[in-house]
Amino acid sequence: MCAKRIWLLLATTVSVSGLQLPLLQPLRTSNEPLVTPELDAYVNNELARWNSSGLSLTVVRQDTRATGKWDVEFGSYGIAQADGALVTPDTLFAIASNSKLMLAMSVGLLIKNESLAAARGQRLRWDTKIKDVLPEWQLMDEGVSERVTIQDMLSHRTGLPRHDYSGMTRPGGVSEMISTMRYLRLSADLREQYQYNNLMYETLSHLPRTLLNQSFESYITQHIFTPLGMNSSTYSVAAAEASGQLSHGFQYDMQDQLYARNGTRKPTVPYFQRPGEEGIWAGAAGVLTSARDLSMWVAMLLNNGKHPLTNETVIPKEVVDHVATGVSVSSGKAPYPELSPAVYGCGQDRYSYRGHEIIEHGGSNPGFKTQVARFPNDNLAIVVLSNDENGNHILESVKWWIADRAFRLENIDWAKRYGDKFLESARKNRESVTPRPSSPAPPTSPWDTMQGTFTNGAYGSISPCFVATSHAGLNNACTKVIKHSVVQRILSAQNDEIPTFIVPFKRTFSTYLRFLHFEGNTFNVSYVWSNADVRRREGFVANKEKDDGDVITGLDDRYVVEWVDSSSGGQSGWAFSDNFWGKGGDVRPPEGATARERAEVWFGKA
Ligand SMILES: *[C@@H]1O[C@H](CO)[C@@H](O)[C@H](O)[C@H]1NC(C)=O
Ligand SMILES: *[C@@H]1O[C@H](CO)[C@@H](O)[C@H](O)[C@H]1NC(C)=O
Ligand SMILES: *[C@@H]1O[C@H](CO)[C@@H](O)[C@H](O)[C@H]1NC(C)=O
Ligand SMILES: *[C@@H]1O[C@H](CO)[C@@H](O)[C@H](O)[C@H]1NC(C)=O
Ligand SMILES: *[C@@H]1O[C@H](CO)[C@@H](O)[C@H](O)[C@H]1NC(C)=O
Ligand SMILES: *[C@@H]1O[C@H](CO)[C@@H](O)[C@H](O)[C@H]1NC(C)=O
Ligand SMILES: *[C@@H]1O[C@H](CO)[C@@H](O)[C@H](O)[C@H]1NC(C)=O
Repeated sequence: MCAKRIWLLLATTVSVSGLQLPLLQPLRTSNEPLVTPELDAYVNNELARWNSSGLSLTVVRQDTRATGKWDVEFGSYGIAQADGALVTPDTLFAIASNSKLMLAMSVGLLIKNESLAAARGQRLRWDTKIKDVLPEWQLMDEGVSERVTIQDMLSHRTGLPRHDYSGMTRPGGVSEMISTMRYLRLSADLREQYQYNNLMYETLSHLPRTLLNQSFESYITQHIFTPLGMNSSTYSVAAAEASGQLSHGFQYDMQDQLYARNGTRKPTVPYFQRPGEEGIWAGAAGVLTSARDLSMWVAMLLNNGKHPLTNETVIPKEVVDHVATGVSVSSGKAPYPELSPAVYGCGQDRYSYRGHEIIEHGGSNPGFKTQVARFPNDNLAIVVLSNDENGNHILESVKWWIADRAFRLENIDWAKRYGDKFLESARKNRESVTPRPSSPAPPTSPWDTMQGTFTNGAYGSISPCFVATSHAGLNNACTKVIKHSVVQRILSAQNDEIPTFIVPFKRTFSTYLRFLHFEGNTFNVSYVWSNADVRRREGFVANKEKDDGDVITGLDDRYVVEWVDSSSGGQSGWAFSDNFWGKGGDVRPPEGATARERAEVWFGKA
């Protein structure tokens, strides 16, 4: 589409100091469509080029011809589910970290709640110290723990790195999760660094429970989803699955960058979290919703918190402004000349694109990548949802394609830029690997003595199982672990000369850790996820001998773990490093004389 925008020049007059000045005011006749056959061709071509599954988008603008009306366009591409069901505006996607803005809004609504302030005799504030609200709160560093405010948590500057891999279903829910945070090492001082942290958003989801005796999910439903008519939005995996609209997240089975294996694209069936497992993750990334519902959400944001059709306040304007105002520097350097550095408020990044200010956030759950963006000065919001683990670069280039058209700017070939970068990063990862020495020194302890149970207060216990050619020396529990079909599949794809430990590790994003021996006491760690057991338990497997539906991800040897023996008198254990804790920015690794002191996460012998 290359039609020129039609401008109507309308002469009006204004009176300034008694002088009549003519004012030429451009009046747009209409918002020309942005979801055009040209965009359709572009998206379909990208999906085909990358063998990608599906994409759903919505573009929202206030209709400038008739204030109070909205132009809402949808684009639906590719498949939502393995059986070929197509993406529609009602297909549900996991929007992942785009859920953080709902959490931030809930905090803002509680801050603005007059009756709550009256009942507590004290107003909740952005700078309220969290220790004064949540009795479970305690961080490892006493001085930091005392001073952390709600704002610090929302703007990722508490000093705590991600520690995402400590995530698991806990009987005591979010409350129990908060009370384990004291066992997590900090990587910076308070307000020293921007370090993205999901645990803080999970922690803040406990506020409605603590202050109003109401669940976070019901609070959001009552005050956001229902007023906005976001009828299919939910935190409940069971509800989303029962609707039949939940997209499958496509992932790459047995992908292994080390061996340059792309893996096979497969639908993750069922959804990676099972009903009952999703509660702790809700505040950070738990919303399941559609392009249609999100069109209402972004229209409300463009409308400064008011319902787009009735103008009733859903979220006070000051809250919408506050969460979108930068507090931390999330990106101190622009990655491309058309972008500016970025600041982060509460669940919102803010920077500029070719002179146009943009407020947005990305989202990433297994098999789902999302982007919810708006240009507050340009009457434009763009939402792009992908159900492909590799969909990120596709949805980013689609977003900019639409923005370039909306702003009538010369088109930048973002698909090429991001595509090249995507391919290059896989290559760079491979090339950064130091090959294992040809005659590596053995560890300082016999292999079988490195088994046993090791614990960390937040991450729980691990019991590594050594994979030996003979099962002698293995206890029964380990024999069972090693014989498991998933473990056999993992082992069959690796160099079987490398001594290996398999560690059952059922957490939010993993089922196993794999330690591959490097040299001495050092091992390369993969964080492996498999859905095989869930598929069998829930009856998704027709042919038990040969199931093509199992997905195994995470074989990338990304981290390092060091065995620490007790010969020098201390506790033996496993010391994880190489950014297992998920730091941000320029944070230095922990310093210390021993591997235990240098550990980002330490599991000591129980
Ligand atoms: C909402 O507010 C806008 C801008 O003030 C106004 O033009 C529109 O008519 C209002 N809509 C309703 C339903 O009141
Ligand atoms: C405000 O607080 C009252 C209790 O004081 C509660 O009933 C109400 O649901 C709260 N509303 C919001 C939006 O937080
Ligand atoms: C919280 O609500 C439940 C019902 O949902 C009630 O049984 C319980 O007593 C309430 N707790 C407090 C402290 O009010
Ligand atoms: C949600 O349901 C209401 C009532 O049926 C309807 O008016 C509204 O348009 C629906 N919202 C969306 C986003 O479809
Ligand atoms: C992996 O995917 C890339 C990009 O699609 C392709 O260029 C490459 O040939 C693939 N490698 C293998 C081993 O299939
Ligand atoms: C493309 O995706 C399909 C469907 O998931 C899969 O069967 C096929 O192997 C994929 N092709 C490539 C080259 O990865
Ligand atoms: C394994 O760990 C060693 C030591 O840290 C490192 O040099 C090497 O690159 C790692 N290998 C892989 C495959 O990541």
